[in-house]
Amino acid sequence: MSASRPAAAAGSEIAAVLAAAGPELGHQLDRTEERLSQVAGSHGATLARHASGTLAAGGKRLRPILVFLCGHVGSRDGERLVAAAAAVELLHMATLVHDDVLDRAALRRGRPTVVAAGGRAAATATGDLLFSRAFAELSSTGSGEAVQALSSASSALVRGELMQRADAWSPEVTPERYLERCELKTASLFEAACRLGALFSSDPAPADVLGRFGARVGLAFQILDDVLDVEGPTARTGKPRGADLLDGTVTLPLILARGRDPDLGAVELRGTATDPGRSESLCERIAATGALEDAREQALAYVSEAKSSLDALGLPEARRRPLDLVADAVVERYA
Ligand code: IPE
Ligand code: IPE
Ligand code: MG
Ligand code: MG
Repeated sequence: MSASRPAAAAGSEIAAVLAAAGPELGHQLDRTEERLSQVAGSHGATLARHASGTLAAGGKRLRPILVFLCGHVGSRDGERLVAAAAAVELLHMATLVHDDVLDRAALRRGRPTVVAAGGRAAATATGDLLFSRAFAELSSTGSGEAVQALSSASSALVRGELMQRADAWSPEVTPERYLERCELKTASLFEAACRLGALFSSDPAPADVLGRFGARVGLAFQILDDVLDVEGPTARTGKPRGADLLDGTVTLPLILARGRDPDLGAVELRGTATDPGRSESLCERIAATGALEDAREQALAYVSEAKSSLDALGLPEARRRPLDLVADAVVERYA
């Protein structure tokens, strides 16, 4: 079966990474795509429809890219890197399908979510399938260490999602608590992607250093995701504007904005989920406080930290530059 990378993967920020890394990265990503579509299509018609739809809808494939860049594209152990990249993306997709159930999200990657199209049972089963196949892929590498790394990320992610639910609608979420949640729910999988790359590289760099790079990039990535939620527009992000806000998810832009606009702190957000006009006006109010610029600044600071952490490795320019570009890409994106 042949599969090509979805068009959404070719955003200009990602295109710069692909160009800097050379053709081998594109080749490895194509192999990963093929593997993903085989997996999505091999477990019965209903699951195939939902899982293949999720896959074909696009996605930036950032985590597989990190696996390959940290694994040194062109490495002789390409088979295991492809298995690791597919595993990380399958786990990511599983979490998105389940996340959309928890967040009651209607739209992802510009299309109806699995929960919106097929209902809660279909979304739960599709997510479960993707989760289980992620670990099956990784087990083909024969590395218990790799399975442990992905399992730790998966457990952290679930803790982060539960923490987010526990904090829903709370006016008391501090920036520190928000960052702790982002570390768990997002940075952990970025870190695992980098660690797996390091583990299967034929030219290894220390997994701890690359893992820390991934974690910082992941933190910046989630902050930017939360900025984009408020900034919109849907046509660019593929997700409804203000979805976090209306679902009770307290993100950095809201935390910062509440500190600056006391009236905003008193606004009751509950019960507004069905009112898109209200969502737009709340997003505008948050933006008017300057909170989006400040949150973006914080994301940029994490990107700088991530890049500086690589200095210790003394990588040759050809290996270093694509890693720097991925880190830049997570804050220079619009989707
Ligand atoms: C979305 O991740 C979930 C978050 C951690 C914010 P991505 O924005 O990487 O999702 P796709 O795969 O590109 O759609
Ligand atoms: C990230 O958080 C979700 C996961 C890590 C599973 P969000 O809830 O912000 O992600 P989106 O915005 O739905 O993609
Ligand atoms: Mg969500
Ligand atoms: Mg989001």
